[in-house]
Amino acid sequence: MSPYAHITGWGMAVPERVLTNQDLEKMVDTSDEWIVTRTGIRERRIVSDGETTASLATKASLKALGVANIAPAEVDLIIVSTSSPEYLFPATASLVQDNLGANKAGAFDILAACTGFIYALNIASQAIRSGSIKNAIVVGSETLSRIVDWNDRATCVLFGDGAGAFVLQAGEEESGLLSAVMRSDGSGMDLLCLPGGGSRFPTSVETVNQGMHFVKMNGREVFRFATRVMVQSTQEVVRKANLTLDDINLVIPHQANKRIIETAVRNLNIPIERCAINIDRFGNTSTASIPIATCEAIAEGRLNPGDNVVFVGFGAGLTWGAAAVKWGGPFPGLRVVRPPAFRFYARLRSFVKRVLRKIDAVIWGSLESRK
Ligand code: ACO
Repeated sequence: MSPYAHITGWGMAVPERVLTNQDLEKMVDTSDEWIVTRTGIRERRIVSDGETTASLATKASLKALGVANIAPAEVDLIIVSTSSPEYLFPATASLVQDNLGANKAGAFDILAACTGFIYALNIASQAIRSGSIKNAIVVGSETLSRIVDWNDRATCVLFGDGAGAFVLQAGEEESGLLSAVMRSDGSGMDLLCLPGGGSRFPTSVETVNQGMHFVKMNGREVFRFATRVMVQSTQEVVRKANLTLDDINLVIPHQANKRIIETAVRNLNIPIERCAINIDRFGNTSTASIPIATCEAIAEGRLNPGDNVVFVGFGAGLTWGAAAVKWGGPFPGLRVVRPPAFRFYARLRSFVKRVLRKIDAVIWGSLESRK
């Protein structure tokens, strides 16, 4: 029988620095009242100079490994979902793999904007269910503050930085991902887009002068699309899992706008108390918002082993999707792994490998020059 992909660990990491609506009032022509009534956001976290998408992802992953009680060397696959990668390439996931010292893991990024965490969760679960791998880390991590235009009040008030991670492990009992829906409609690519810096519009003085390296969004159209697909995909994923909405203990939606969430929940005819909302404190952290909201729901005792939970999201692409999950928890074990020790050995291993690579290059170069 195929193994199930249990979710056995979780962790989140957000920057210390808080940017409130009052702070934004001093930066652009906006007001706390406008932001709260239109979006539900009161404050968001913003990275400091030393923090990056990979550093947040690494912190969240270490916490998730600590909960799951497994060592990085036991991880087979790391998927990072992000729209604000450190580089176009290499993948941010490879940096996380190195930071963790996960020396037996494959690593890659996926880009499905705010829906990405759901896509990544499904891909990793299917890899486990196929028997191809045993342990995976799925991370959603964003530093959107680095790609928004801080002079554009229509977008800069919405986004925040943060990361959330799950550890997935193969297990025999029915748990973890029960069903998933992944959809895309690229005809809406212009509604939410970062046009510059890719191969279509390579970075040039012109693209920079035109601000093409910043997020562009048609908020009204995204709003209309979002309320529709959140309802459709939640209903579909619940049906595919052979459940009804009454069986769902908690819905954890992408935190883009409180009004979008409230409209979707109303149309689904479920009480708002069965929905996790934390947008007031973190803003829209894109693909990180679902795992961050999950970590908070667990800490508040709102999500417990055996519960059925639906994750539902939408974003640029356009993309949307949902996942129905039977919530699990860490496998029982006697040993206790210590995440801070991983970090130390990972740094040491990475340093030694870089030095050895340099020595190797020098020796190889001198041998070649003698030929
Ligand atoms: N402060 C004050 N006024 C503002 C601000 C602001 N920050 N931003 C826009 N306005 C003004 C506009 O200029 C406009 O003024 P006008 O009527 O004089 O032209 C007015 O407010 C209304 O603007 P709308 O865009 O129509 O406002 P709306 O009610 O649609 O709210 C919002 C805008 C909050 C962006 C909403 O459309 C929304 O949430 N859309 C969904 C966005 C979203 O979810 N994006 C993330 C997708 S996830 C991802 O993939 C990253």
